[in-house]
Amino acid sequence: MDKIVIAGGVPLAGEVEISGAKNAALPIIAATLLAPGEHRLYNVPPLADIRTAKKLLGLMGVTFEDGEPLVVDSSRLTGWMAPYETVKTMRAAVLVLGPLVARARQASVSLPGGCAIGARPIDQHLKGLEAMGVKITLNQGYVEAKAKRLHGADITLDLPTVTGTENLMMAATLAKGTTRLVNAAQEPEVTDLARFLTVMGAQIEGIGTDVLTIHGVQELKPASYTIMSDRIEAGTYLAAAAITKGQVTITNAPVPYMAAVLEKFHEAGVRLSTTNDRIMVEPGGSLIGVDVKTHFFPGFPTDMQAQFMALMSLAKGASVITETIFENRYMHVSELKRLGADINVTGNLAVVRGCKQLQGAPVMATDLRASASLVIAGLAAAGTTEILRVYHLDLGYARLVEKLSALGARIRREAA
Ligand code: EPZ
Repeated sequence: MDKIVIAGGVPLAGEVEISGAKNAALPIIAATLLAPGEHRLYNVPPLADIRTAKKLLGLMGVTFEDGEPLVVDSSRLTGWMAPYETVKTMRAAVLVLGPLVARARQASVSLPGGCAIGARPIDQHLKGLEAMGVKITLNQGYVEAKAKRLHGADITLDLPTVTGTENLMMAATLAKGTTRLVNAAQEPEVTDLARFLTVMGAQIEGIGTDVLTIHGVQELKPASYTIMSDRIEAGTYLAAAAITKGQVTITNAPVPYMAAVLEKFHEAGVRLSTTNDRIMVEPGGSLIGVDVKTHFFPGFPTDMQAQFMALMSLAKGASVITETIFENRYMHVSELKRLGADINVTGNLAVVRGCKQLQGAPVMATDLRASASLVIAGLAAAGTTEILRVYHLDLGYARLVEKLSALGARIRREAA
């Protein structure tokens, strides 16, 4: 198992290019199951989660030709099972449920257990599929789904779940009749999936809104598509540049989808300017504490909460951070405190009192975004920070050490 070692205190400088979005690529790869044939996907990020998704679809007969584009051949479907071994390493594996039951009329998907950041049930996914006529049973930890042919339905989600919206939207594309998904998630990654489905021949109205209307069609065709770039990766480099008082240009950033994040960095005194796909960070802003509340899109993303907290740990004054999406997304707090941060958590509320300097120390990564916050804090801390269990980072950050080294960071990866 590897660790990352950072000698902090170097202002980052230069350009960093953002990769394709993990949370768009995963549902789009799953959606290739809906249309038998060769799909060409561009800008697929080189991540551990993507390798897992390919392995999972490979179990069902799908073949892949690596390269740019990634060629996905879903002509043959020989299986419709997502085993526990895979789902336990990547919850997003649940995204094969909708496409499988729509195409193969059956699916057997291991029920994802809880994870570090919360219980994360999939009741809304199952409720929606049942409304479309799918018979759902639970058998030895597996969701067994069966249906003659799905039919359209009016579904109101209790909350705008991202993968829930994606699963139901995918299933509805091949259903008989029209499905209305009310209180749907509006995250840009949901929109990117809807656009891919549309290129395949799906009929979807209301893309990007909280009401999606999907008119089912007989069949979909394989397609070529370029996946959007990753707004959370871009936000992570923004925090790294700001905390080191660096001069950095973040390129290929999906700026139009980052308004809430950019707004908070502005408020916090970070000097930045943007174009449609670039963020330029300038040194010289004085960092001040600002309050943040995570919310469903277009609000402040929960996937940026930990990274922003690291930044606030060195801001002047206090900031109150409220996590409203996941019930246990403060695992990074105790590790940031090991670096000298002053943070108090009560329920879903964290009060961060900015300090003058963080001190390097050994810390433990617990989940993907928590690990990113430790890297950001380590880049600013005096002395050496060692981050253990960095496999969490590999799930969602492409070539992180390489990209940060190119910006001048004293960072390396080595066996723990
Ligand atoms: C997606 O997870 C993302 N993952 C997460 O990113 C992200 O944090 C999350 O959306 C919120 O933006 C992918 O897209 C692969 P949800 P998802 O269903 O879909 C509750 C990262 O760091 N809920 O929108 O699993 C749930 O417990 C990851 O890249 C139900 O109660 O999240 C949570 O409290 C982490 N019942 C809330 O809704 C359901 O059926 C939002 O979860 C579904 C969800």
